[in-house]
Order: sequence, then C-alpha cells, then structure tokens
Amino acid sequence: EPRHILVSGGAGYIGSHMVLALLGAGERPIVLDDLSTGFRAAVPAGVPFVEGSSGDAALIGELIERYPIEAIIHFAASIVVPESVAHPLDYYANNTVNARAMLACAVAHGVPHIVFSSTAAVYGEPERVPIDEEQPTAPINPYGRSKLMVEWMLEDAAKAHPISYAALRYFNVAGADPQGRAGQSSRDATHLIKIAVQAALGKRPGIDVFGTDYPTPDGSCIRDYVHVADLAQAHLDALRYLRGGAPSLACNIGYQRGFSVLEVIDTVKRVSGVDFEVRLRERRPGDPASLVATNERAISRLGWTPRYDDLDTIVRHALDWERSLSSRAA
Ligand code: UFG
Repeated sequence: EPRHILVSGGAGYIGSHMVLALLGAGERPIVLDDLSTGFRAAVPAGVPFVEGSSGDAALIGELIERYPIEAIIHFAASIVVPESVAHPLDYYANNTVNARAMLACAVAHGVPHIVFSSTAAVYGEPERVPIDEEQPTAPINPYGRSKLMVEWMLEDAAKAHPISYAALRYFNVAGADPQGRAGQSSRDATHLIKIAVQAALGKRPGIDVFGTDYPTPDGSCIRDYVHVADLAQAHLDALRYLRGGAPSLACNIGYQRGFSVLEVIDTVKRVSGVDFEVRLRERRPGDPASLVATNERAISRLGWTPRYDDLDTIVRHALDWERSLSSRAA
C-alpha cells in the first residue's frame, strides 16, 4: 500500500514548502490545515486537502484509517512570541493541547513516526552561543513553553509506545522557494526579514528596530536565519532517519552563524537597492539577546546538507516572493 505523509499546517509558510519538498522526493503528502493563518491556494493542485483542526481527534483518526498514514509532520501552531506573551492560554490550546490530541491519535492508530516543529525558543536565554542540544531548556516566553511541553510528551510517549520522533528546533526561518512556487504570505507579518522586504518594496513606511542596548556588538539582537528550503529538506532527512529505525531525537536546525537586526536591515537595503526608514525603538518583550545554533547533530545524524546558507540568497528569495505577491494583488 502506498505510504502517505500527513502534513498538519501544510497550507502555512513552512508547511507549504514541505509539501513541495515531499512531492519532489516522490512522497504522498496529505494537508490538514484550519486556514487560520494558512491559505488554501498554497496547497498545490492534486494534493489532498482537509480543512480542520489538528486537535480534532475524530477527523485525524479517520484520515489515518482512510489513507494509510506512515508519518505525521506537525507544523500547525501559533508562532509569534509577543502574541504568546499577550495571549498565553491561546498558545497552550493551539500548540500544546492540539499536539497532544494529534499524538494520541498517532499512538492509537499505530502511526510509527512524527516530525515535530519545535523551536530555538525552548532554550530561552541560552548559557552560551552557539547553542547545542545538550544545553538546558528554559524557555522565557509562553510560545517556547507551549512547544517544550510537546517535546516532553513526545519523549514520554516514545518510551511507552512504538513510535519514534524528531523534534526539530528551528532557528529563524526566512526566505522563499528558490523556484518562486511558495513563500511567506502572512496576513499580519511580524518576522524581521518579511517586514524589511516589505519596507524595501514600499509596502510599509520603514521598520522599527526593537532594542539597541543588548549585549551584542551593535546592540541589536542576533539570530541564526535559516532558509525555508533547507529547513524543509531537514524534515525529509529526519523522515529517512526515522524510517531507518534510528532513535528519537531533538535536533537544532540552523547555520551556526548569527546576524544582528541591523545587519539584516543593511543586507535588505543592499540586495534590494532601496533605502528605507529605520527607527530605533525600545526592546520588545520576550526577546533573548542572541540565538545561534550548533548544527553538528543535524549534519551527522540526519545527514542534513544545507544549500542556501547565505543571507543575501535568503533575502533575494524573500524579495522575489514579496514582489510576486504585489503583482498577483495588482
Ligand atoms: N525585530 C525588529 N523589528 C521588527 C521585527 C523584528 O527589530 O519589525 C527583531 C526582533 O525584536 C528580534 C529579531 O528581529 O530581535 C527577530 O525577530 P522575529 O520576530 O523575526 O523572530 P523571533 O526571533 O522573535 O522568533 C522567531 C520565530 C519563533 C522562533 C524563533 C527562534 O517567530 O517562532 O524565531 O529563534 F521560535
């Protein structure tokens, strides 16, 4: 029987790139998405699409039985750190409670593998950078806590039941499909590179820099920006790893080098050739000063080979996608 991969959140930013990567690898994705932040149009023609919640146990149980589902890649979640500070219980409901329902279905119906979207936010304010997976997890915002609780559930479930998982701790995901087939289409953008390319294209009047008094060389926060296509590839690698019978793991996905907010803004200005207004503001609540991954584990255990480890390339692809959105809207 053909094997299918259930992609929750497959109509979202990262999920839509995952579906393209799965199709490119000859896999059979099924998309489950409630369209709260995703877009129906982001699901390629021919890919089965089910509109619903990843917390709907009856629906997921039915899907698992209808196709045989060999693995679940669970993206569906809320991801905005300041929003999680303002609305923590929504984050625990959408990220933690729904993931628990999904996991219980996987266990009940014998789905052997889960790939879970975790986050660098589980580390909180790290003791040292770059951050390796053995550093303590100590999230400083509800978003990070909502995700870390899922990692704990996965760890315990995998000890008790015949299920294996990879919890991929994403650092800052950015960019768009190099072939222009997908990109970030948020209704209310909050992510730095997305905001900066919108400023460069005149879609917003400049950009705010949240904090210039951090203990970093230029005072702005440092992040490890990873290209969304490399991130999708890491999930394919994780799937192959789990299918091979290897043990469950948590694994960073980043490039092991950081850029400050001011460096990112300069890069967007240079690559776009557009100057735009930059306003220096107060710190935003919940932001750690510096988050940079070590990636030895992803490379040695998953066999991950990054292809787009270059900030100019990430920004160029983000700009290309943002321009294509304007021409579609026009
Ligand atoms: N920033 C600005 N101005 C903006 C937007 C962002 O200065 O208009 C700054 C932020 O304060 C932060 C940096 O740019 O210092 C990156 O902010 P993002 O909002 O782009 O991303 P975060 O680092 O807050 O969080 C992202 C994801 C999380 C993930 C985390 C892991 O949203 O899901 O990366 O590093 F957990």
